[in-house]
Amino acid sequence: MLPPHGGKLISRFATPEQAKMWLESSGQLPSIVLDPWALSDLELIATGAFSPLTGFMTEKDYRSVLKTMRLADGTVWTIPVTLPVTRKEAADLNIGSRVSLTGQNGKPYGILILEGKYSYDKEEEALLLYGTTDLNHPGVQKIFEKGDTYLAGPIYLLERPTHSPFEKYFKDPAEVRAEIQTKGWKTVVGFQTRNPIHRAHEYIQKTALEMADGLLIHPLIGETKKDDIPADIRMQSYEVLIKGYFPKDRVVLAVYPAAMRYAGPREAVFHAIVRKNYGCTHFIVGRDHAGVGNYYGTYDAQKIFDHFSEAEIGIQILKFEHAFYCLVCQSMCTSKTCPHGREHHLHLSGTKVRQMLRNGEWPPEEFSRPEVIKTLINGMTQDGP
Ligand code: ADX
Repeated sequence: MLPPHGGKLISRFATPEQAKMWLESSGQLPSIVLDPWALSDLELIATGAFSPLTGFMTEKDYRSVLKTMRLADGTVWTIPVTLPVTRKEAADLNIGSRVSLTGQNGKPYGILILEGKYSYDKEEEALLLYGTTDLNHPGVQKIFEKGDTYLAGPIYLLERPTHSPFEKYFKDPAEVRAEIQTKGWKTVVGFQTRNPIHRAHEYIQKTALEMADGLLIHPLIGETKKDDIPADIRMQSYEVLIKGYFPKDRVVLAVYPAAMRYAGPREAVFHAIVRKNYGCTHFIVGRDHAGVGNYYGTYDAQKIFDHFSEAEIGIQILKFEHAFYCLVCQSMCTSKTCPHGREHHLHLSGTKVRQMLRNGEWPPEEFSRPEVIKTLINGMTQDGP
């Protein structure tokens, strides 16, 4: 099997004895409340999804990642994984101490061994990570909402946050790796998504599947921007599609519980590396991967891989052109396979589709399968936002 990033799958679960000891003493430890984003990062570090990270980034790694897209030791890593707190909270914490990491429900989920605390320049982070300081960018907005100081150090996970209603699709990297091995797949292509599956997704997934033994459909279910379709509704759409249109023995559906950064190219590299940790050998990067608005060029998320050698990324990137339905070809195509003009192509933006669904309108069948649309309209109009 393909080795994880950095060579070893990290596991930062506290032993039962440690967990008992720390949970008993958590009342006496200084504590920090994690927002859902930081809580999901904590868990992803612990399960090894973010291997080789063992904790929240030190200042050295953070600056190196922002400026060079590598950890301080040179390993490719494009997204900061940091723990923000207010200056006041940070001032009360001593280096070397253990800090209890609790959820917004007050429950202790982890322990941080505080190795460092540092301030950072929000504009610089926004510019280097997102390529913009525009507050309309959801990632930039987040930077300016969070605390001014980052805490750094290794973590231990004491208890798993609940994953309802996704429990059955919640699989750690080690579990996905084991499943791949049991299935005997030599090659597995990973697919990241934060949207309901439409025909273009299905087309690139199936095209990739022609070349690989298996497909890991790995929807991101952590925090997304408000107008994205809620994860539970999206999951129903994946279930319906897989049931009707994918061979069961070729597909694994599991959730990726991370927050969406909307960092376009940088996030594409991050997504690929994380899926390598889950055991994938290949990863799909299509049009405007992890993009939002018009901040990134259509293929920037593919071009960024040219900065790195194949060996240091370690997972093979399958790059797809913008796919669409052509009314003349009567099939899904890309500019590589269709000779007809744009006027024959069906183009619908994500925003437009979300709007239609919220109004109970059906996007055309050539855009999305009726079973999927039905699930989405039910979800969006009955209990949707
Ligand atoms: S993302 O933010 O998770 O990238 P989305 O769920 O829309 O958004 O996309 C999932 C994957 O499918 C990404 O790799 C994206 O580039 C690709 N993709 C989405 N739509 C198309 C399309 N029409 N043609 C080609 N690739 C696409």
